[in-house]
Amino acid sequence: MKLLFVGDIVGKEGCEFFAQKLYSLKKEYKIDIVAVNGENSAQGNGITKFSADFLLSNGADVITTGNHSFKRREAVEIYEHPLILRPANYPDGCPGKGWCVLDFGSFRAAFVNLMGVVYMEPIDNPFDAADNILRQIDTPNIFVDFHAEATAEKKCMGHYLAGRVTAVVGTHTHVQTSDEIILKNHTAYITDIGMTGPELSVLGVDTQIAVQKMKTHFPAKFVESSEACFLNAVLIDFDEKVGKSKQILRLIIR
Ligand SMILES: [Fe+2]
Ligand SMILES: [Fe+2]
Repeated sequence: MKLLFVGDIVGKEGCEFFAQKLYSLKKEYKIDIVAVNGENSAQGNGITKFSADFLLSNGADVITTGNHSFKRREAVEIYEHPLILRPANYPDGCPGKGWCVLDFGSFRAAFVNLMGVVYMEPIDNPFDAADNILRQIDTPNIFVDFHAEATAEKKCMGHYLAGRVTAVVGTHTHVQTSDEIILKNHTAYITDIGMTGPELSVLGVDTQIAVQKMKTHFPAKFVESSEACFLNAVLIDFDEKVGKSKQILRLIIR
C-alpha cells in the first residue's frame, strides 16, 4: 500500500495547490491513502471548518495539526470530526483527540499526532503519550506525525518508535530534510516533510513582512506570500499485513 503524507499546507493558495496536484500524483504513484498536516491551512494561519472541509473534500483521508491547532478558537468544534486530530499529548481536558483508526476495507491504519516539547509549549511528555496510545491500537499499520521544532527530539522519537510503528514523520519546521530512512528495517522516518504553499516565502509568510518583523522585532500581521506554490510530501510504501515500511520517497512538486 502507498501512503502520501503532505507537509504543513499553508493558506488558501497551499490548499488549492494540493487539490490541483493530488489527482495526477495519485495516478502516477498509485496512492491509496493521503494524510496531510493542516495546522496552517486557514487564511491567516490555524485551521478552520472551511479549510478542513476543503482538504477532506479534495482527497485528504486524515488531517493532523500541531501548535496552531487552536489558533482559531471559533473552529474548536472541528475536532469532533473523526478524521481531524490535534497532538495527543495536550493535557487531559483539552478538546479533541490525538489518534484515530481508519478502516480501508482490506486493512486498517492508525494515525497518531504528537507534538514536541523542546522549544515549544511544555505539554505532556510525547514519548509517554506514544507508549500509552500504542497499548490501545490493534492494527500494525501506525503512522505518527511528530510536530516538533528540535531535530534531536524528532530523531529520538524516530528511534524510540522504530520497529513499533510503520512511520514517524516530522512536521512544523516547513523545510524538507534529506534524512529519510527505514529504521530497524520497519519504520519509515524523516525529520521534516516540509511545507505545501508559496515557495518564495519565509515558511509561507510574505518575505517583506517576515524580514521586517525579524529585523525590528516590531509586531506585524503575517500574511501568506502570493508567490508560486510547491508541494512537499513523502510517499511511503508499506506492507499492510505487518505494518512494515518498504520504502520512503521524498517529493517536491512545483
Ligand atoms: Fe506549520
Ligand atoms: Fe507548527
